[in-house]
Amino acid sequence: MDRAERLRRALAERGTEWTAPVEWHGSVGSTNDLAKEHARAGSPEWTAVLADRQSGGRGREGRVWVSPPGGLYLSVLLRPRFESISLVPLAVGVAVAEAVAEHGVEAALKWPNDVLVGGRKLGGILTEASSAVSGVEWAVVGIGVNVGASSDDLGEMRDAATSIAVESGKAPPVESVAAGVLGRLPGWYDGLGSHPAAVVAAWRERSVPWWGSLAEVRTASSVLRGRLRDVDDGGALVVDLEEGGTRRVLSGELVRLRPVSPGRS
Ligand code: BTN
Repeated sequence: MDRAERLRRALAERGTEWTAPVEWHGSVGSTNDLAKEHARAGSPEWTAVLADRQSGGRGREGRVWVSPPGGLYLSVLLRPRFESISLVPLAVGVAVAEAVAEHGVEAALKWPNDVLVGGRKLGGILTEASSAVSGVEWAVVGIGVNVGASSDDLGEMRDAATSIAVESGKAPPVESVAAGVLGRLPGWYDGLGSHPAAVVAAWRERSVPWWGSLAEVRTASSVLRGRLRDVDDGGALVVDLEEGGTRRVLSGELVRLRPVSPGRS
């Protein structure tokens, strides 16, 4: 049985009949690129593309996503019927956090889409979309989770990254982690259309407890400093700026700033 079939069976065992296409490749450049080709070719919503490894895995902000065998590399094609897709990464983040919790790993979500354990990166989400005048045509959500990597495998990344195996002492089959994510994703995603505030509340419950802390948010056009107030029901980060006033940020990179101790330089 190939891995796509094992995944379908794992989903069926959880009560999820996955009717859309599932492809599981050996080595690819980036599963997001293949899913984008599917999007342009008119493939159905929920088409899922997975790979054992990626030679050109991409992270946010043009970063490389190192993708050796033993990790989850999954991209899902969505055709959102709602106007804004800013909430999509939050819904996906909740599904990923719940899926890794099934393997004994309590992850925290950092806006907009980092999946962290003890401040180290367990996974990440890259959403790429195409918009037309009528709204969002399609969105591809790419999900990467470090599953089986040992501390030795992580090498010099081990201070910044972790894996399910490192955190729980066991490396679950990647199919089972994929089934956990895909089994939960439709529920949270559909929730964005019917009750987005509940999705945001679920995300907030799993978020890193940084609310009220001083932080820097790097956006495409500026660097903002202020105290983190909340994530609003549109998925925007709300920051009370040091210089006064409040800003809603829809996209950017969040860094918490440690308060400087008095008398120390
Ligand atoms: C990030 O945190 O910067 C996002 C990382 C997203 C990685 C995944 S792995 C599957 C999909 N294919 C890619 O090239 N990237 C995403």
